[in-house]
Amino acid sequence: MKMRLFLISVTIFCAIISSVNSCSPADLAALKAIKTGLTDSQLGLFNSWVGTDCCVNWYGVSCDPETKRVVDINLRGESEDPILTKSGQSGFMSGSISPEICKLDRLTTLIVADWKGITGEIPKCLTSLSNLRVLDLIGNKISGDIPADIGNLKMLTVLNLADNQISGKIPASIVSMSGLMHLDLSNNQISGEMPADFGKLKMLSRALLNRNQLTGSIPVSIGNMNRLADLDLSRNRISGSVPDCLGKMQVLSTLNLDGNLISGQLPSILLSNRGLGILNLSRNSIGGNIPDVFHGNSYFMALDLSYNNLKGPIPGSLSAAKYIGHLDLSHNHLCGTIPVGNPFDHLEASSFANNDCLCGNPLRTC
Ligand SMILES: *[C@@H]1O[C@H](CO)[C@@H](O)[C@H](O)[C@H]1NC(C)=O
Repeated sequence: MKMRLFLISVTIFCAIISSVNSCSPADLAALKAIKTGLTDSQLGLFNSWVGTDCCVNWYGVSCDPETKRVVDINLRGESEDPILTKSGQSGFMSGSISPEICKLDRLTTLIVADWKGITGEIPKCLTSLSNLRVLDLIGNKISGDIPADIGNLKMLTVLNLADNQISGKIPASIVSMSGLMHLDLSNNQISGEMPADFGKLKMLSRALLNRNQLTGSIPVSIGNMNRLADLDLSRNRISGSVPDCLGKMQVLSTLNLDGNLISGQLPSILLSNRGLGILNLSRNSIGGNIPDVFHGNSYFMALDLSYNNLKGPIPGSLSAAKYIGHLDLSHNHLCGTIPVGNPFDHLEASSFANNDCLCGNPLRTC
């Protein structure tokens, strides 16, 4: 008798559990559409996307424990996950991201990264996901424009669309993402000018826009970005001069502007900036002399001014620098004696090669 009662209660208990354990039907339908849109013939990740409880054991899906709504999608093609280490840590998926994803209206994190073969566009409706904090679609073959109203994503902190085939302009609305901390659009086909008011992105610490087709000049508003530590605009078609204000930035430590059409002269204040540790201005058309403004707190892991039109001598103050790890002044029109001193002792002739008339160690004696 007791045993029977026990079994009945277990049965009822299980019935309750299984009716509770179904995620939101809207979320379930959206996930099924996503699964249909993507083809993973290699790893079988979506084999776990079965049944009605998308909150339990669905690979890469996480729910809010209280609301049982889907909040995270995290599908990475390159990671330490055991399912990937089996296949040599590199996955492949084709297909595209279904616009049905926008029905996951509680989504805070969307990571579909490094699958190499995912094509199609960024669904325009993604900009309605007002809780989205992380949007990371790096390393696919996504094409088309960045949605014009991307600025609607007011909570976004990370926008990573690098290594895709995205074209069109940087939408003007991007500057209204006031919490954005990390922006990576590198290695796409983005053209046009950077928004003049780019500096409104006050929280931004990394802005990586390298390897695109950006034109126009560097917006001076960037000088107001007090948290920007890493600015990479290399390998675009940016023209104009290096704005002085970049030299006044408080935490800027890496500035890569190499491979553009930048002209004008080197701002003194940039070279004397204390925090700047990596400066690459290689392969531009920068002229004039190298300002003689280095000092005992100059600390450059890399200072690359090669392939420009710099003339005059190598500034003597450079020998006062605390540290210069990698120096490249080659392929300019410099002339005169290479200063002697600590930071120069380890440099090779290639750092000074192809100038007009430089001499002294490590080149020929004067
Ligand atoms: C600077 O940029 C050039 C051109 O893009 C590149 O070849 C070079 O390796 C870079 N220098 C450093 C120190 O990274």
